[in-house]
Amino acid sequence: MRNGTVLLLLAALALAGVVCLSAPGTAAAKAATLASTDSGAPSAIVMFPVSAKPNPKGTAMTPTVFNHLNHEKAVAKCETCHHTGDPVACSTCHTIEGKAEGNFVTMERAMHATHIHKRGNGTTPTSCVSCHEDVTRKRQECAGCHNIVVPRHDAAWCASCHNVTTSITPEQLQQGIDGTLSLEQRESLAADTVHTPKPTRMLTPMDGPYKVRIDALAEKYLPNNFTHRRHVSSLMEKIRGDKLARAFHNQPETLCSTCHHRSPLSATPPKCGSCHTKDIDHRYPDRPNLKAAYHLQCMGCHKAMNVGRPKNTDCTTCHKARQ
Ligand code: HEC
Ligand code: HEC
Ligand code: HEC
Ligand code: HEC
Ligand code: HEC
Ligand code: HEC
Ligand code: HEC
Ligand code: HEC
Ligand code: HEC
Repeated sequence: MRNGTVLLLLAALALAGVVCLSAPGTAAAKAATLASTDSGAPSAIVMFPVSAKPNPKGTAMTPTVFNHLNHEKAVAKCETCHHTGDPVACSTCHTIEGKAEGNFVTMERAMHATHIHKRGNGTTPTSCVSCHEDVTRKRQECAGCHNIVVPRHDAAWCASCHNVTTSITPEQLQQGIDGTLSLEQRESLAADTVHTPKPTRMLTPMDGPYKVRIDALAEKYLPNNFTHRRHVSSLMEKIRGDKLARAFHNQPETLCSTCHHRSPLSATPPKCGSCHTKDIDHRYPDRPNLKAAYHLQCMGCHKAMNVGRPKNTDCTTCHKARQ
């Protein structure tokens, strides 16, 4: 994670307003309704920024609710996460400052690290973020888009995990940071968030055009009639109800921004040609020209999703040759 980004977003996600005084006890009643796990682990757990010192940084982010039930159903082995073999709190060894038991790997690193060196013996620890990245690359229904998406890692992304909606008292927060809040209390504080439905209403295929005639270049070939609605709907259909996708695709236009990238989120995005010119613009040597932009995007997704028709070498399915 880039430090500059972190600092910027810390300010944006300040706890103010999320943590406030509340009547304790209401959350406990709701916790009773959380489904229980087979493993005996709590169903969901609030994770705090555990620290040896009462530190101001530790109160910068909204704490995180970790849904243990969903994760233990979706991940085959406990050791994938509890990488030392002992299912205890990560904060036993990974705190804000880091400590000897955890080889001074900080909590931030243990949760967010993206490039973890694989050791090939099945015991490589994984962070929240790097496992989610693996999932989006390995599952075919996710891989098409994720092969062409460069995630923004913006404030909305942080909020998918730093998501507690329950009111936490300052005393509870301090105990959380000290690591003295009981597991039962951390479970009961998680209940509200688990039960609060996500309010995001995603744009649907109907919010985009039915077909788009792409003819900015048409010369050797006839224009391409891009089946816009069919594309959006088949991509969305494949991931309907997926919990990980639902938690992270959390702005109305997120899915549209797969293809309509690098511009502010919008239901009426700019044409590709407004940034990708026919010939490479020498001010932006890394930016593909317009033909390559179309080809790389269309074909990059088709390849990652193993789309049978059109094959990338099948030139005349996308654009008929001029006679
Ligand atoms: C995939 C889940 C996930 C995402 C996404 C995520 N975090 Fe975290 N982060 C955690 C967990 C879990 C912890 C440890 C528990 C806690 O402190 O909430 C943590 C801890 C932290 C900490 C140390 C604790 C503190 O409050 O000072 C900081 C700083 C932090 N995250 C910043 C960020 C920022 C900034 C982003 C977005 C750019 C982000 N995180 C995105 C899961 C996530
Ligand atoms: C996807 C990762 C993941 C998987 C898989 C997983 N856990 Fe966990 N588990 C966690 C995290 C994260 C916590 C919260 C740790 C914290 O609070 O610092 C946790 C907490 C626990 C706790 C409470 C620890 C404490 O005392 O605070 C127990 C017990 C536990 N897990 C057991 C298991 C068992 C048994 C399995 C296998 C059936 C399992 N877990 C699978 C990530 C996982
Ligand atoms: C008993 C102590 C202990 C516990 C508990 C523990 N870890 Fe670790 N962790 C370590 C040690 C030691 C290392 C450094 C050695 C290594 O990488 O194996 C480490 C390394 C890591 C790394 C690698 C970071 C990198 O830069 O390569 C990640 C990620 C990680 N831990 C995540 C977790 C998570 C998530 C949990 C809780 C589910 C957890 N750890 C629980 C001791 C622990
Ligand atoms: C080994 C892989 C793996 C690790 C590690 C992991 N996750 Fe996940 N996560 C998943 C999978 C798979 C799902 C989808 C679960 C489902 O479909 O029920 C998921 C779903 C989620 C969701 C959305 C649904 C829900 O259960 O709330 C959030 C938020 C989330 N993870 C946060 C975290 C945080 C925070 C951590 C670290 C403490 C973490 N994950 C660690 C694989 C992982
Ligand atoms: C229609 C395209 C599309 C599909 C299909 C898709 N995603 Fe995404 N996803 C996106 C876009 C775009 C973003 C980036 C949002 C941003 O950062 O601006 C994203 C971001 C994410 C993120 C946060 C970034 C990260 O790496 O942590 C997760 C997690 C995620 N998606 C999970 C999934 C899962 C799981 C699936 C499959 C079940 C899936 N997505 C399928 C378009 C898609
Ligand atoms: C997945 C669909 C797809 C496939 C397959 C495809 N193209 Fe294209 N191609 C496009 C799109 C979209 C455009 C932009 C059309 C426009 O602006 O007129 C384009 C534009 C072009 C252009 C510039 C416009 C013109 O008419 O001169 C050429 C040349 C071209 N493609 C050649 C090829 C060749 C050769 C192949 C086979 C190796 C191929 N394409 C396969 C989608 C595709
Ligand atoms: C699979 C990729 C992809 C996805 C996902 C996608 N679009 Fe598009 N969209 C395109 C392409 C390609 C064009 C043509 C751009 C051009 O002509 O330069 C386009 C064009 C458009 C246009 C302009 C139509 C016109 O006639 O000029 C609008 C509006 C639009 N999209 C809205 C959306 C919305 C809203 C979403 C999300 C619901 C969305 N798009 C999702 C690829 C996509
Ligand atoms: C607002 C400007 C803008 C628009 C509109 C835009 N792009 Fe891009 N595109 C970029 C930038 C910026 C890059 C990254 C390269 C660079 O730094 O110049 C990029 C890179 C790409 C790449 C290379 C792979 C990658 O993601 O880095 C492809 C392929 C691409 N664009 C296709 C498209 C297509 C297809 C459309 C229309 C659906 C489109 N772009 C619309 C600005 C834009
Ligand atoms: C994010 C992934 C993705 C992108 C980007 C994408 N496609 Fe596709 N495309 C698919 C999938 C998945 C299918 C097969 C599903 C279906 O038939 O609905 C498909 C099928 C097709 C088909 C055959 C079915 C039909 O609708 O005629 C054509 C032609 C096609 N794509 C052209 C294009 C062109 C042209 C572009 C770029 C402008 C493009 N695709 C970009 C995922 C994508």
